[in-house]
Amino acid sequence: MSADVFSKVKEILNNIQNEKVGNLNDLESFRIKYLGSKNEIKSLFGEIKNVENDRKKEFGQLLNDVKQSAEEKYELLKASLGSALTDNENTGIDMTAPCEPISFGSRHPVSIVMNRIIGIFERIGFTVAEEREIEDDWHNFTAMNTPEDHPARDMQDTFYLKDSTVELLRTHTSSVQARIMTTQKPPIRIIAPGRVYRNETISSRSHCQFHQVEGLYIDKGVSFADMKQTLLYFAREMYGPKTDIRLRPSFFPFTEPSAEMDVYWGLKTEDDHRITKGTGWLEILGCGMVDPNVLTNCGIDPTVYSGFAFGMGIERQAMLQFKITDIRQLFENDARFLKQFSGVI
Ligand code: PHE
Repeated sequence: MSADVFSKVKEILNNIQNEKVGNLNDLESFRIKYLGSKNEIKSLFGEIKNVENDRKKEFGQLLNDVKQSAEEKYELLKASLGSALTDNENTGIDMTAPCEPISFGSRHPVSIVMNRIIGIFERIGFTVAEEREIEDDWHNFTAMNTPEDHPARDMQDTFYLKDSTVELLRTHTSSVQARIMTTQKPPIRIIAPGRVYRNETISSRSHCQFHQVEGLYIDKGVSFADMKQTLLYFAREMYGPKTDIRLRPSFFPFTEPSAEMDVYWGLKTEDDHRITKGTGWLEILGCGMVDPNVLTNCGIDPTVYSGFAFGMGIERQAMLQFKITDIRQLFENDARFLKQFSGVI
């Protein structure tokens, strides 16, 4: 009897040593067979009672050896197969196969230019402020020193909402100035990107919706020279380190004095002549010192604080940058047009 069980154990030991394990599936079968909850060795432990007393110790020893050799072989195989997981036999994945092409999305040219502008101002401490597109008359006009019946309201044809003369689609991002000044205390240094609306005839050069970036800086002792230097820095970051600017006197109800800033674009090509109407200069933005009336309207004391503001359109700059000739292309969302900007950031 006991000779039988001894030979059975030896047979199992032999089997363990000869078992061929080539992949993770084989390894799992091996584990179940020799180390699982119903493994072959376990059943033999029950045979101890049938072994002669003087051989019980020897038998027990043998069983332990078998168990140990199964465990050792399992651990060894697991380590070597685990590190060879790239083998497609193990994972079913062929790591050498060429990958599926991933097509990159593209940013909208308006976003590309807007993000560049924001980045330039963020680097000198401006923070982004975003506000509502549906505004009220007070923030868009009255607070900005443009009371009702003021002729300057005609400068911007307004979309009013639902027979209302109070609710409107903002005509410029300057409304954000009023929003910020009435809710924050100076020093204020913000940049406000966003969409604006004007009731204009749509053509290749103008649209009823477009984007602006507004800037506002209010603190004690802010001067026109600060504004000029800030805008020069912007122009050189945006249009190249040697870019020249010029400020032409202008009028906006909410700034005094007011100016328009041109950058020197050059007159090298026929296109340059056309774009700059033969002058070489391109108008980029409107700016000025915040009118004391605007500060008062928004609860800031103009005898203590001063500031400058500026506002610029994005579409025209995007069109110049990417040689787009029709503004409508920026709003049609034709995938063939938009794909051309893939990879541009
Ligand atoms: N809001 C003006 C416009 O839309 C631009 C501007 C902003 C001018 C701030 C001066 C100061 O044309």
